[in-house]
Amino acid sequence: MEVVNRYVATRHHVEGAPTEADFEVREETLRWAPDSGEVLVRNLYVSIDPYQLNRMKRSSASHLAVDGVLPGQRITSYAAGEVVASACAEYAAGDVVAGVLGWEEYTLFKPSPGVLMSKVDAGGGFPLSHHMSVLGTSGMTAYAGLFEVCKPVKKGEKVFVSAASGSVGNLVGQFAKLAGCYVVGCAGTTAKVDLLTDKLGFDAAFNYKEEPDLKSALARHFPDGIDICFENVGGEMLEAALANMSVHGRVALSGAIAEYTGEGRRAVPDLLEMIYKRITVRGFFAWDFLPRFAEFGVVVGGWVRDGKVKVVEDVSHGLDSVPAAFAALFRGQNVGKKLVKLA
Ligand SMILES: NC(=O)c1ccc[n+]([C@@H]2O[C@H](COP(=O)([O-])OP(=O)(O)OC[C@H]3O[C@@H](n4cnc5c(N)ncnc54)[C@H](OP(=O)(O)O)[C@@H]3O)[C@@H](O)[C@H]2O)c1
Repeated sequence: MEVVNRYVATRHHVEGAPTEADFEVREETLRWAPDSGEVLVRNLYVSIDPYQLNRMKRSSASHLAVDGVLPGQRITSYAAGEVVASACAEYAAGDVVAGVLGWEEYTLFKPSPGVLMSKVDAGGGFPLSHHMSVLGTSGMTAYAGLFEVCKPVKKGEKVFVSAASGSVGNLVGQFAKLAGCYVVGCAGTTAKVDLLTDKLGFDAAFNYKEEPDLKSALARHFPDGIDICFENVGGEMLEAALANMSVHGRVALSGAIAEYTGEGRRAVPDLLEMIYKRITVRGFFAWDFLPRFAEFGVVVGGWVRDGKVKVVEDVSHGLDSVPAAFAALFRGQNVGKKLVKLA
């Protein structure tokens, strides 16, 4: 069987904030054969994630964990799709799968323990997009970062979430509320701030772009200090959060999007303050917690089914919209999980 595959590629390494001009859509013919051991998937949703920018750089610490993206080549990505043809026993035509596929209309993969792929449980009754957001990597990042890395132990612990209206951040705040915490988030527009407090149950939120001094803004919201900081932004935001931590505070370092584009200032923490307050800062990777994925799906699926967690998704349409959808993340133009629906 042959299909024409359209895929998104970078034109060159991308070092600053991405724009649509950094990308092109290419075409190739994919050939599947019954004796190949391969599975041909027609992609239905692709995930749009900030970390991809670090893969696109000529060099980045992220390449230690995830392969870099080479100009002109297909870009692997978490995605969901329908099996069109299968040459292995685990998958059959018509199965819906989620895992590492690509920013492309079709993907050929060969199942192996190193390939992250699973069949989507249609019995759960959730829309497929939810398996890419709240029940996918964003949900797992929020769940693992909050409950495994930060471990809220007492009711009323005070939690700060940066990039709080984003895919991971909005879920961190909602999960922390369910754990009995006091939650404050920051975001880059008034509409996003209103979403956090009016719809998602955050105790308070502020627009960081309207704050002349982030340290004072956090001191206002946390007069007794921050117990848990879920950090998505880095740079000045992380510095301000570290300056406001309480003694024995915990910081889950999930991401540093302000530092991915190389424009703003790098975070320079006050180390003496961190020592004397005995602050723990831990970088983490959602997939380190893969053994808890089944438990996560049951717990968070239950919260969504019971209406305790609201799902915020931001969907663009068609492969040609992938570059704009990706650039939008770095302009603060997405709300919740950014996805592109291909079919
Ligand atoms: N450790 C892991 O396993 C893991 C997994 C997934 C994601 N992450 C990380 O988690 C973070 C959030 O990812 P996501 O998928 O949920 O993305 P997202 O928050 O849905 O989208 C990015 C948001 O970040 C904010 N932002 C962009 N540039 C910024 C800047 N210079 N300063 C402050 N805010 C900025 C924007 O919102 P505003 O309007 O608020 O500016 C934008 O909407 C990223 O750093 C990502 O790399 C980590």
